[in-house]
Amino acid sequence: MANEGNEQDKGPKSYLDGEHYHGDFGVADMTYGDYLKLDKVLDGQPEHPTSHDEMLFVVIHQAKELWMKLMIHELEGALPYIRRGELRPAFKMLARVKRCQDQLIGSWSVLNTMTPTEYTRFRHELGRASGFQSFQYRAIEFFFGNKQRGMLAPHRARPAIHQRLTDILERPSLYDEVVMLLARRGFQLDHAVLDRDWSKVREPNASVEAAWLAIYKEPESHWDLYELAEDLVDIDDQFQTWRFRHANTVERVIGNKTGTGGTSGVQYLRRAVEVRLFPELWSVRTQL
Ligand code: HEM
Repeated sequence: MANEGNEQDKGPKSYLDGEHYHGDFGVADMTYGDYLKLDKVLDGQPEHPTSHDEMLFVVIHQAKELWMKLMIHELEGALPYIRRGELRPAFKMLARVKRCQDQLIGSWSVLNTMTPTEYTRFRHELGRASGFQSFQYRAIEFFFGNKQRGMLAPHRARPAIHQRLTDILERPSLYDEVVMLLARRGFQLDHAVLDRDWSKVREPNASVEAAWLAIYKEPESHWDLYELAEDLVDIDDQFQTWRFRHANTVERVIGNKTGTGGTSGVQYLRRAVEVRLFPELWSVRTQL
């Protein structure tokens, strides 16, 4: 053959050649799986799912819990900077929080590939388990100020989690910290928003709205607070979108049945869609 022995006959050069791959692992080296504790992470799904679609259901929940873990990490990281009024590092972390929310919202469409028939095949496996008992979700709500002491009850049997949630409930929320920062920057705020029972949801307050009004009317003078305000509106908007998509998924999959966690189901979830985490940042828009 004319081309015999020609380089072209050997097919494309592998990218695993010495030029592009220098891996020479010893048994003692850290591996990808070790570092990421993949044995633990990938052992957490049903080995023998009751039905094909149960794997989807479990993986989506677990993935959402991981994104929530990262969100909490970023929020805990941002808090001290907000307390100190150093907003630039906080913006970096809040930007990541928003990206996590994108993932949390986007994954509803994966779960929406599951029909009611498919869910019914394994729903009995859940017993009374429900996302209602997600302590990370509750922690995030408390972070943002949507606080109800009664939501601690499902965690009584887990003292460490119960304590952690109680601490987050009883300290000022991220929004409370922002409001206190407004006072430190010279805005006149009612005493009632600066020293109160932090474990309760605060009623919308006119002095806080007036501070935001001043900031929105003159962003050039308060650039970082203006940017912070818009970040919070983004987060509130995305949180509401998550709730809305959850309620729609639930209606698609179980209609008006009651939830495994004991609520009325979709009606309970639709009421939660109305929650505004940072109310003055919405009401101020009517004044502008
Ligand atoms: C087919 C899928 C799903 C159904 C049918 C469903 C159903 C429900 C229902 C009925 C509730 C109200 C509480 C109850 O009575 O159980 C609820 C709450 C909740 N679910 Fe889901 N859910 C689904 C998927 C998910 C996923 C993937 C997550 C992700 C973590 C999740 C997280 C939550 C959370 C955090 C709550 C508490 C909401 C609140 O109290 O405001 N759910 N779910």
